[in-house]
Amino acid sequence: MAQPIVITGFMGCGKSIVARALAQHLNVIFVDLDESITARTGRTPAQLITEDGEHAFRRIETDTLREVLQAGEAGVIALGGGAWIEAANRELINQYGCSSVWLDVPFEVCWSRIETAGEDRPLGRTKDQAAALYERRRPVYQLATIHVPLLGHEELDDVISVIKPRITRTNADQKEHF
Ligand code: S3P
Repeated sequence: MAQPIVITGFMGCGKSIVARALAQHLNVIFVDLDESITARTGRTPAQLITEDGEHAFRRIETDTLREVLQAGEAGVIALGGGAWIEAANRELINQYGCSSVWLDVPFEVCWSRIETAGEDRPLGRTKDQAAALYERRRPVYQLATIHVPLLGHEELDDVISVIKPRITRTNADQKEHF
């Protein structure tokens, strides 16, 4: 596969699960950006945000994304929920000719997963905070190449079969709507 595919969307939309399965189907390497950040810094994104602030975390996130893209091994990359929101990251993604897939899952579904995951998400600690962020980010997620609206209860295989034929390997600027 020439160009990697990045999977974006709000916290709890299922990016990592879908990206891992897609990579398996395409027989390419899966990279989880949050895990790469943890491997690189020895701290989770949640720890970095809490201890050093979001701004410092975003710098590390961009550096890690650049490294992952430069390494050229990743076939499918699961971004953290805020990575796509940063213009510098979208530029990088575009520069490397990646297709971007937005998993558009209703807020209530994302929130119930955030609540039950037991994972610290410092930018989504309260429902009000998460809901405001969700609304604010939607127009930016919309800039992704491929829009995949989901109800949130689809089978993983069905999600993959929606995404697979839509992946454009040649023209990252091409805008598609589902
Ligand atoms: C963030 C989402 C998290 C993680 C960090 C910031 C965000 O990833 O990168 O806590 O800004 O939405 P997930 O989307 O995998 O929860």
